[in-house]
Amino acid sequence: MSEGVSQADQPQELEGGDKDLFSKFDPIIAQRRALLDSGLEDPFSLVMEKVLSPTRAICNGRDTILLGTYNYMGMTFDPQVIEAGEQALRDFGSGTTGSRVLNGTYQGHKECEDALREFYGMDHAMVFSTGYQANLGIISTIAGKGDYIVLDIDSHASIYDGCKLGDAEIVPFKHNDIEALEKRLKRIPEGAGKLVILEGVYSMLGDVAPLKDMVRIAKENGAMVLVDEAHSMGFIGENGRGVCEEQGVMDDCDFIIGTFSKSVGTVGGFCVSNHPKFEIMRLVCRPYVFTASLPPAVVATAATSIRKLMHGSNKRAHLWENSRSLHAGLKELGFQLGTEEPQSAIIAVIMPDLQQGAMMWEALLKEGLYVNLARPPATPANMTLLRCSLCAEHSEEEVTTILGMFERAGKAVGII
Ligand SMILES: Cc1ncc(COP(=O)(O)O)c(C=O)c1O
Repeated sequence: MSEGVSQADQPQELEGGDKDLFSKFDPIIAQRRALLDSGLEDPFSLVMEKVLSPTRAICNGRDTILLGTYNYMGMTFDPQVIEAGEQALRDFGSGTTGSRVLNGTYQGHKECEDALREFYGMDHAMVFSTGYQANLGIISTIAGKGDYIVLDIDSHASIYDGCKLGDAEIVPFKHNDIEALEKRLKRIPEGAGKLVILEGVYSMLGDVAPLKDMVRIAKENGAMVLVDEAHSMGFIGENGRGVCEEQGVMDDCDFIIGTFSKSVGTVGGFCVSNHPKFEIMRLVCRPYVFTASLPPAVVATAATSIRKLMHGSNKRAHLWENSRSLHAGLKELGFQLGTEEPQSAIIAVIMPDLQQGAMMWEALLKEGLYVNLARPPATPANMTLLRCSLCAEHSEEEVTTILGMFERAGKAVGII
């Protein structure tokens, strides 16, 4: 047991000897307590007192540069996006109070789906209340008992949860390993339904999947393909359609999953597809049917934002510049990074351990910089990471300022 763990954090027996169902959380409670007892601020409960722009907020009373928001294209304060949300709030009210299949489909939901169809050039689009629910719903509904899901071991939690809900056989393969994917596919019994699940950008290290080869192999082996483009939509690819577009495999992807909580700048999730029977999903997909639909203001902001992202090539170019400058600068300072070269708008800085990661996180916050601290089990290979996500609205000067902050904090904590 670590020093400083209070009595309240000890494993407890309830009266009558009943087992406390919370006892399984004791190790994480102890770990968290030890971190806080060392005098560090809790990295997982920061409050933004005021948000000034996509790149600035007041945290602990201080003007802070935001470098951990996934607000890649900086759409949250776009005047047209805000205007559309305000108008919808006035015209349609604050919420739908209903499921998409009952009273919860408004004009705005249809317009949002139209915008997605146009953005991706696909026949069908279905909007969910979050990206988490989109993965949960699509995966669990299309792959059930007797089917096989072959997925990258570093897949997002929502993908794993979708697999669990659906009852298919799960076959994970080593991260981004083309041969491992092929081997797993070849071992699946003939005639079984097969779904390969990949992500365009993996959010922990910010690395890109070799989709060109993987999608080809999936198709050669008779599998359907689902790609989660949560971290690439809006930014990667000529039209911002993601890694599928960049690597020329859009036509071979059966399902693309995405979220509105990153480049689109609001909340919500979706799936687009060319499958001729796709519309039946609206009746059989439980995380679509059995939950309330997104509020009118949200779908209005999402539709406006998606349409603007279609013409975002200048912003995309600037975001690439930011990503390259930050990656090069951090590397030059001596930080260990998640990728050799910048592959996306996420730059992951590898920390020696959780304690030093938390110290570095706090030192950066005191400098006036917010980044995400990520730790196992969310991270691969037990790593503690400081994840930086750049925004198209970060200026060149801000990136220089950020590098100065990393240099001072890194030296103070003894990481560089
Ligand atoms: C790869 C991936 N898929 C899905 C999601 C879920 O998106 P949402 O925030 O809309 O629930 C995330 C969110 O972090 C993600 O990183």
